[in-house]
Amino acid sequence: MLVNLIVNNQNKVFSCEPGDFLLDTLRENNYLSVRRGCDTTNCGVCTVLFDGKPVPSCSLLTVKAEGHHITTVEGIQKEAEKIGKYFGDEGADQCGYCNPSLALTVYAMKKELKNPTDEEIKEYLVGNLCRCTGYIAQERAIKKYLGDKS
Ligand code: FES
Ligand code: FES
Repeated sequence: MLVNLIVNNQNKVFSCEPGDFLLDTLRENNYLSVRRGCDTTNCGVCTVLFDGKPVPSCSLLTVKAEGHHITTVEGIQKEAEKIGKYFGDEGADQCGYCNPSLALTVYAMKKELKNPTDEEIKEYLVGNLCRCTGYIAQERAIKKYLGDKS
């Protein structure tokens, strides 16, 4: 079957099976920044933005995304570079496997929450696991990015 998606503001038509998940469809079509981790909705490394909200693409059937906007990290390249710089400056950049999904989530959070508390930030990020950093440096970097008005 064919599915129409708007990926990074471009209209795309993908071939898929009714039971395919968006993670597989995107990776089969070379959106390799969308990564596979647990495949069970627990780690968040497969996160994409679905109409601007972070969702784990390993749990979303491709057919359910028909006609919707999907954003991968390539679609927010300039902001992702800015976020990456804060991460680098705070020593929060280690293996990098979680970086694309985390950048998307942090970008969406900045758009959605105005002046979030520490608890609200943690709650927003709860679906994004990182095996390397211990989160403290990430939290510092994220708070600096959230305060960046440029
Ligand atoms: S691969 Fe989707 S949440 Fe882990
Ligand atoms: S930096 Fe390695 S998983 Fe997050």
